[in-house]
Amino acid sequence: MRKIRVGIVGMGYIGESHIDAVRRIGDCVITAVADTNYELAKAKAEKYGIENCYASVEELIADKNIDAVHNCTPNYLHFDINRQIIESGKHLLSEKPLTCTYKEALELLAVAAKMPEVVAAVNFNYRMNPMVQEMRYRIARGDIGDVRIISGSYLQDWLLYDTDYSWRLEPEIAGNSCTIADIGSHWMDAVQHVTGNRITEVMADLVTFIPYRKKPKKLTETFTTAQGGEYELCKIENEDYGAVLFKTDTGAHGCFYVSELCAGHGCCFEFEINGSKASLRWNQEENDRLWMGLRDADNRYIIRNPNSISPGVRPYTSLAMGHPEGWNDAFCGNIRAFYNYILSDRKERPPFATLEEAAYIVRLVEAVIESSRKKAWVKV
Ligand SMILES: NC(=O)c1ccc[n+]([C@@H]2O[C@H](COP(=O)([O-])OP(=O)(O)OC[C@H]3O[C@@H](n4cnc5c(N)ncnc54)[C@H](O)[C@@H]3O)[C@@H](O)[C@H]2O)c1
Repeated sequence: MRKIRVGIVGMGYIGESHIDAVRRIGDCVITAVADTNYELAKAKAEKYGIENCYASVEELIADKNIDAVHNCTPNYLHFDINRQIIESGKHLLSEKPLTCTYKEALELLAVAAKMPEVVAAVNFNYRMNPMVQEMRYRIARGDIGDVRIISGSYLQDWLLYDTDYSWRLEPEIAGNSCTIADIGSHWMDAVQHVTGNRITEVMADLVTFIPYRKKPKKLTETFTTAQGGEYELCKIENEDYGAVLFKTDTGAHGCFYVSELCAGHGCCFEFEINGSKASLRWNQEENDRLWMGLRDADNRYIIRNPNSISPGVRPYTSLAMGHPEGWNDAFCGNIRAFYNYILSDRKERPPFATLEEAAYIVRLVEAVIESSRKKAWVKV
């Protein structure tokens, strides 16, 4: 069988993770990469033995020997590049967020509706951690009863100092949110996916703790620092902390907070679901295990084990118990789910985030911003 030929646009921080993941999937081969920074794209193509290298999205999309394109560019380009990819008839795997505004997301859905043969996904990769999937199966099976309370956080520290800088702080590039759009979007997608609930009302408090930052005159990497180099002082509009109370369509209530100002945290992504019978909690930094809380019996850790994991989760795990799977594996699992779906009869609901689901996340991000500005609950 001919392999699916893949092109990747955007060779920055996450672009390389996409190269790594696709190379682990037997059904695919990367035939081209593109970046407006041609030198960077060339270096990655040479490093990984990728045949073709382009300096623009347009050239890559025009390449007839490509079946699917991954969009790994900064947020403000997602709408236009995703639109071009879908219209070309190539399958689309977009980085999150789907677009910067809900209006753009709706336009994209309309474009996709005219191209039903195109498979499109958004890379909310935490979904495909095996223990997140296990949580989803256990909740659907009724193991914890009715979902009542959903809580957690996503904490990082790469914006801790005023010398730390990223385009995620700039509304023209990132959209009107840094923290909620960047990591809050992952959190909201993951809890909606595991519970099957939809967040329908939010009350938010967004804060920009560091109102001025030293932007390095020479920006080299996505997470960069001005320490020791030349910089310009910039006023910061986007938030670096966000807390959200929310309600869901089934009557559950919850809260989460997210920030990149939490010293000592790299990717502390955690959520806990409290049901009418039991609780489940998962933390990305200990991702091979799931905590189950019970009132009338011993609490327990459920350790990832392909032999005992729920049958529906089996495709998302490969290593034997005791051989920890991590961020890279779940990331690859999400991309594998996308390609498995392309090769399937496409009758079942896909496990990855669809354009519709990702559009709803964009809507939620907007509602969170609106709520914080109005200091009031906002219905979605
Ligand atoms: N799923 C995840 O966990 C995850 C993690 C990190 C980043 N992301 C997402 O990935 C996207 C990229 O983030 P990053 O951290 O890799 O950013 P980055 O700045 O490191 O890389 C972006 C790359 O896109 C290139 N680029 C810019 N304009 C372009 C254009 N018009 N055509 C082609 N290439 C262009 C830049 O030269 C750069 O190399 C963002 O939307 C971000 O939200 C997702």
